[in-house]
Amino acid sequence: MSEMQYRRCGKSGVLLPEISLGLWHNFGEGAEYSVCRGMIARALELGICHFDLADNYGPPPGSAERCFGQLLKNDFASHRDEMFISTKAGHLMWPGPYGDWGSRKHLLAGLDQSLRRMQLDYVDVFYSHRPDPQTPLEETIGALVHAVRSGKALYVGLSKYPPALFNRACEMLREEKVPCLLHQFRYNMLDRSCEKAVLPEVDEQQTGAIVFSPLAQGMLTGKYLNGVQSGTRAADASSVFLDADKVAADNARVAALQQIAEQAGMPLTELALRWLLRREEITSVLIGARTVAQLEQCAAAAGQAPLPEDVLAAIDAVE
Ligand SMILES: NC(=O)c1ccc[n+]([C@@H]2O[C@H](COP(=O)([O-])OP(=O)(O)OC[C@H]3O[C@@H](n4cnc5c(N)ncnc54)[C@H](OP(=O)(O)O)[C@@H]3O)[C@@H](O)[C@H]2O)c1
Repeated sequence: MSEMQYRRCGKSGVLLPEISLGLWHNFGEGAEYSVCRGMIARALELGICHFDLADNYGPPPGSAERCFGQLLKNDFASHRDEMFISTKAGHLMWPGPYGDWGSRKHLLAGLDQSLRRMQLDYVDVFYSHRPDPQTPLEETIGALVHAVRSGKALYVGLSKYPPALFNRACEMLREEKVPCLLHQFRYNMLDRSCEKAVLPEVDEQQTGAIVFSPLAQGMLTGKYLNGVQSGTRAADASSVFLDADKVAADNARVAALQQIAEQAGMPLTELALRWLLRREEITSVLIGARTVAQLEQCAAAAGQAPLPEDVLAAIDAVE
């Protein structure tokens, strides 16, 4: 296996591994504790030291942070300083007017709840999980700044902010001397929409960039080319963003990409991740994994040579 490589997060002092592990799925109440422990242990062995959480990860919401908190306490407490841990607030968490979106009230209560669930004094990054069209940007940014000034987060990040808003938010954060460390957004071979404006804006703002769903939630492993098998995310009723219809709609493009991977002599999973790492604006590629074996297959994409030009051109030609 190739060695993990680390990339600098924009102009900051922080390095992140080329492959990071997200806990959106597979660490909730249905997950087996020993499997979760095995994945965190193997991740650390492989140099995957960045773990991405959010208050609503589970299911149910909150349970991934609780699981991670137990793991930290029981098995990994002595590794805290080797780990870079993020969380987010901004999606629905509790009933009533303060349980959602980007107010100071929601974000700071959400951060406190996350810290309690994870049994941590601070997180390394606290994100605004999504922009809030109703709350003044100044208020959301003020809450992020407060999170850092109060010592509950070392850095702040923004997730899913459209380019113009991202630009303004970065300027406000810079004025407060709490620069945006990271922008988090979706990017994969089936969804290249960030290439037009989001990636150029990240470059302009000189922040880090961490991209989620790099395998299109598993589709870019080729696992759905012969239909949806049980035990996969598309077969899981609690997974609302991937189902048999979505899989069927994308399978022709996945089949074409699978052929390119075969010709290039590598698994589609590796092609998908190495393709993302070709862009120097990208600091880290944020994968999800259900098993240690999946984690290892993803980690194999780190530290590899750039993909050849003819492979990149073949991928560009897939429509
Ligand atoms: N900011 C945001 O709004 C936002 C949104 C989405 C995600 N995220 C972050 O990004 C992280 C990753 O997103 P994601 O889970 O969608 O990423 P992904 O890497 O595209 O999909 C992960 C899933 O693909 C399957 N998989 C992974 N490796 C595989 C392999 N080698 N062989 C076969 N199947 C494999 C597994 O699903 P099954 O085995 O279950 O089929 C796994 O759970 C999340 O955990 C979260 O931290 C953030």
